[in-house]
Amino acid sequence: MFNLIFGRSLSSRVTTQAAVSGWSIKKRRLRLAAVVATAGIGGGFILYREWISLDKSVHFKTDASIPDQRQTYIYISPTPPGDDLVTQMRSKVKWRLSILEHFLEDKHPDVLSKLPLDRTSDDPWRLLKRAQSDNPQRRLAAVAKLAKKHHWLDAEYRAIAQACDQRTLIGLARSADVDTRFFLAPPSLNDFKESTEEGFKKLLGALPRDKIDRCTEFFTLRAMTEGKTVQAHDQTGALCFGGNTLTFVTGLSKIPEEARETVNLQALVSHSEVPSHCEEIANHGGLQLLMKLRNSKAAEGSLKIQCYIARILANMALNEHLHSKIVQAGWVTVLASWVKSDCIPLAAHAARALVNLDRDAVTEKFDDGIFLLHPQTRTRQALEADVVFVHGLLGGAFKTWRQQDKVSKTTKESQQEEGKEEEMNLADEEWTDCWPKTWLSKDCSQMRILTISYDTHITEWSAKCPFESDKRSLANRSAEILNKLHRTGVGQRPVIWVSHSMGGLLVKQMLLDACEQPELENIADNTHGVVFFSTPHHGSSLAAASQQAKLLIYPSVEVKELVQDSPSLKNLHGRFRAFVQMRRLPVLSFGETKPMSIGLGVKTVVVPVESSHPGYGEYHSLDVNHLEICKPPSQRSLLYQLTLRFINHSVPRSLPHMLSERLREDLDGEDTAEVFYPLGMSFGE
Ligand SMILES: *[C@@H]1O[C@H](CO)[C@@H](O)[C@H](O)[C@H]1NC(C)=O
Ligand SMILES: *[C@@H]1O[C@H](CO)[C@@H](O)[C@H](O)[C@H]1NC(C)=O
Repeated sequence: MFNLIFGRSLSSRVTTQAAVSGWSIKKRRLRLAAVVATAGIGGGFILYREWISLDKSVHFKTDASIPDQRQTYIYISPTPPGDDLVTQMRSKVKWRLSILEHFLEDKHPDVLSKLPLDRTSDDPWRLLKRAQSDNPQRRLAAVAKLAKKHHWLDAEYRAIAQACDQRTLIGLARSADVDTRFFLAPPSLNDFKESTEEGFKKLLGALPRDKIDRCTEFFTLRAMTEGKTVQAHDQTGALCFGGNTLTFVTGLSKIPEEARETVNLQALVSHSEVPSHCEEIANHGGLQLLMKLRNSKAAEGSLKIQCYIARILANMALNEHLHSKIVQAGWVTVLASWVKSDCIPLAAHAARALVNLDRDAVTEKFDDGIFLLHPQTRTRQALEADVVFVHGLLGGAFKTWRQQDKVSKTTKESQQEEGKEEEMNLADEEWTDCWPKTWLSKDCSQMRILTISYDTHITEWSAKCPFESDKRSLANRSAEILNKLHRTGVGQRPVIWVSHSMGGLLVKQMLLDACEQPELENIADNTHGVVFFSTPHHGSSLAAASQQAKLLIYPSVEVKELVQDSPSLKNLHGRFRAFVQMRRLPVLSFGETKPMSIGLGVKTVVVPVESSHPGYGEYHSLDVNHLEICKPPSQRSLLYQLTLRFINHSVPRSLPHMLSERLREDLDGEDTAEVFYPLGMSFGE
């Protein structure tokens, strides 16, 4: 519904008519309305020429108005349904006063103090002013208020967008349900003449070669030299083989452009993991190049390309001195829309970028591979615990934790690896791509939910990179992930781990390693529960299967660590059992009993009960296979409900804490604009 807005002396009849007829309003009537408007200009509303004069002081963009031939204004704005005219007119008058106030505050504070202005608390200009205050509490509260639902005019949103500073803008993008009109379109790239193909060649050529691993170097060179020839090559999908978290979004692409951009983007991802290279990427116009790519047809149709772009931005955003460049290139607008995407990986990449940008409310940094599934926006809620999801080999931060595929159970029993995206049962609306995000965040809304993905670039590339990476032992991965988790603040509140397959071994290794380093010790000390889905505590039966079958599931040197009854597994098992017993750590384990085909005619229970049963804690064996074990068929399923109950009960809750929570909720209810409780992680304890 749309409404024409005029000066207050307009008859309500004309306005109501216009409102009813909406955009379909006839030219003739519009002209009539304009005449009435011109005749009726009195006080009470702002004139077009007044807007012009305000332009200099408040950066007011005049394209928000539509002046008619008579040099007065007619302004068309979307009207919230059910908003009655009187309220609307009232808000318009208020708006005029607030612009005046904003204008005077800088230039003539003396005059301002004498004016009998109605100082309402939801005035956009006053809120913006407060959002720019030196007091952080005041700032955060004002941004939260600004982001709430208001019935402001279209032009007011745009005016605020124009006058918005970087910090406030990022705060708005990090607010739940924020109005998209706060975000201006990214700057035009008309001067950017070269094709993205040339752009990438130039950029990758200009980046330093130091501090990148050999695989990155290999791919950078390949992206630069092969260019178009890469296309055909990559359609085989070999490049994407091996659990890239992104491949499952779109499946293997048939779009040649996508394959080409993918190689470029993968190379850039690796560079973006090196801080000094981020600087070079920005200096060589990388932010504009990515924007150009994002505007292209190829990116529009490809969530995968969008995910790569968001991932690069999130890595670059780890470097605070690049924030202004990222903002100036218009990325906050794009990220604010991506974070609302239904595509869970894209939303997670964008959320990571925004949280890394949001230095006003967050002190933690989210490195590559650490995703925040909940809460993805600023919150005033105290967070009770961290739930950390750790996938297995060839799994992924999101796809491992999807709901059980309906098709896979019946027709696709012989799934060889998870990387393939099956046709989903789209008719089923309840289906989720990631149950920790869709279900758990609602059932445990007070917990922070993280999911990690490790070595994604190595698994993606391993099929084609001629160099063996040296990071592949459990101990190496453990050290890397522990440090990243430490930077996101894991260890500062109770932690519960949820792991699948080899991810469970990684969790065990991390907890034992954490005990040995003073700065990481709190991660182990604050651990209150561990869930294992088919973790091969005593090795996998695959070790007994053929070498080729093994490689399908565990295509890496880690297979050595997974051999049944291997000394290193035995050692890990013994030490972790002692850890559990000493700390009386609650453990929940699930094991599979159903064999699955692992290709080449081999069908086996990948991790048999003898191996998935750790010998302590609660244990359930289920009639599902190795991949289904962590994919609950529904929210009501036993698998999910047992997991939820365990997570919920593992969180220590003291009475005082619960009382203070209650108190906080009561205060929240009173809408105390000035008081802000920095309890959540979002406000950097
Ligand atoms: C979690 O446990 C608390 C009590 O400890 C209970 O009140 C709450 O309903 C539980 N939540 C869920 C989702 O099970
Ligand atoms: C991997 O671990 C070994 C010993 O545990 C160490 O010597 C090596 O430097 C580590 N490599 C990386 C890349 O961390």
